[in-house]
Amino acid sequence: MRKIYLVGFMGSGKSVIGRRLSFFLKLPYYDMDREIVKQQGMSIPEIFEKYGEEYFRKIETDFLRNFRDEACIISTGGGVALNEENRKIMRKTGLVFFLDAIFDDIYLRIKNDKNRPIVQKSTKNELEQLFFYRRKFYRSAGHIRVLTENRSIRQIVEYIA
Ligand code: S3P
Repeated sequence: MRKIYLVGFMGSGKSVIGRRLSFFLKLPYYDMDREIVKQQGMSIPEIFEKYGEEYFRKIETDFLRNFRDEACIISTGGGVALNEENRKIMRKTGLVFFLDAIFDDIYLRIKNDKNRPIVQKSTKNELEQLFFYRRKFYRSAGHIRVLTENRSIRQIVEYIA
């Protein structure tokens, strides 16, 4: 069995859904950001501040290239699907689900998050523009698009399962 990747914008529910899906399907779960934080011994804002976003993007690609060959669920960071190599690796090694949420819901979830450097440095308007810019990449990365609006976590998990 292959990997299950969850892609989508920050705050689209990738981690929550990933954890619940892991219980449901009895498969190990990995949160890419957490794995990177463990590997680097630094928080995401620290990595951005010390080495810059470009460096962080390299670590994400290294992670995907080298991650163990096992059936599991991986929730990706919101920028992962923007890179063509990342998209290729994910589509080759697994099934990719795009969690498609609406911006207003997303914004409420992320607006006060100090652990997301991109949220910290952006206005609401900038985040909304980024959201629309990125959607096409999530769509092209995903084998399957999952509409999350008005659906409970349980419904989303069952749909993916
Ligand atoms: C990012 C999303 C974050 C994290 C980093 C950059 C992005 O992950 O990887 O802050 O560029 O959208 P989440 O999508 O889990 O918030």
